[in-house]
Amino acid sequence: MQTTVGIIGGGPTGLLLSYLLDGLGIDNEVLERRSRAHVEARVRAGQLDHASVMYLRRIGVAARLDAEGLPQKGMNLRFRDRTRRIDLEALTGGAYCTIYGQSALTKDLISIQTEAGHSPTYEVSDVCLEVSSDTSAAIVYRKDGGEHRLNCRFIVGCDGAHGVTRAFLNSGTPQSARHLPFSWIGLLSDTPPISRELTYVYHPEGFALWSMRSPAVSRTYLQCARDDRLEDWSDDRFWTEFSRRMGPETDIRPGPTTERVMVRMQGYVAACMQRGNVMVAGDAGHIVPPSAAKGLNMAIADVADLVGAFKALLFEDQGDALEAYGRSAMRRAWLGQYLSWRMTDLLHSPPDGNPFENEIKLTQLDALVSCPGRLREFCDSYVGKEALA
Ligand code: APR
Ligand code: PHB
Repeated sequence: MQTTVGIIGGGPTGLLLSYLLDGLGIDNEVLERRSRAHVEARVRAGQLDHASVMYLRRIGVAARLDAEGLPQKGMNLRFRDRTRRIDLEALTGGAYCTIYGQSALTKDLISIQTEAGHSPTYEVSDVCLEVSSDTSAAIVYRKDGGEHRLNCRFIVGCDGAHGVTRAFLNSGTPQSARHLPFSWIGLLSDTPPISRELTYVYHPEGFALWSMRSPAVSRTYLQCARDDRLEDWSDDRFWTEFSRRMGPETDIRPGPTTERVMVRMQGYVAACMQRGNVMVAGDAGHIVPPSAAKGLNMAIADVADLVGAFKALLFEDQGDALEAYGRSAMRRAWLGQYLSWRMTDLLHSPPDGNPFENEIKLTQLDALVSCPGRLREFCDSYVGKEALA
């Protein structure tokens, strides 16, 4: 088989890239390790930045997002046993976030591509990159017991944090990573949210977040010990602890849990985002701690940028467009790390419960909410105001 762009990974990054390349008439094929059902069922963070929503609308994939997404024009910040509403819309001059599950966006993209007759090839295995020159490469893989070869001019790794492309590009170079000494336990449950807007809690015992997926479904997270396992957290223990961190005035009536997840808090940036005709986008290039829900938004920004680079290279003869993508993707990855770590640091308590550290955190939070300039700057980066390419 022959194509122009071979895409490894059919998560949101690979699907969006394929959709946009199709729109430009650039031949591409997506190879995905898992089944369609598995990809559709994967539950991840669910908040889209302002710029991401505007972009998804502009490229024509936001019909369901507009109908079912939950606008977050403000957010609640709770500390010192008091909840303060932060008016994101007013502080940013009109920008805000939207709650829309990553799996919903993934399903939308899969169904748009399926209707257009261009679905990923699912359930491939033993994917391997072969690069012979800057204009010629191949992806070798197995499917249904046979070996296949996809000859292509470019390879884009959208294969996430554990894919093969990240390893291929990184070979021999030191990795840039940071691991935190705590994790998150998250529950998806049929519990109506306590508020239409997200509530972030800083408590000396740890962070808590009340998010949602719909008016009937909540997504709630708690900071827990780094090596905790899901079986350490019964629903009962989770909600008792959640209620302690939220404060007694919140009347919590949890419904049945439908999904549970343990999230390790870590950040990673690939040693390089592009070499010759091989690039990475999305989680293959960077992962961030989920505190500011930036992961999917960074992936969307990568794709917007990369599609612009392909257009410049293939239609406008701009020979260095992919190198330029490599550089801007690297800057974006570090900016995303910076925003995610800042929010992580602001809202998590030290695992040893050090009272000095606790007072520093509270003072930091006081300083944030009492200084309009600081708060505006925080809100601008939280909502992701900047327009995408
Ligand atoms: N061959 C083929 N496919 C692969 C391989 C491989 N060797 N390795 C991984 N994949 C597939 C995975 O099965 C998955 O479907 O690549 C896809 C990567 O998808 P994601 O992990 O969702 O990454 P991405 O599409 O970049 O999405 C970024 O995911 O983790 C969140 O916070 C992150 O929201 C962000 C989003
Ligand atoms: C989520 O709904 O999963 C979510 C929302 C906001 C965050 C993190 C996670 O900051």
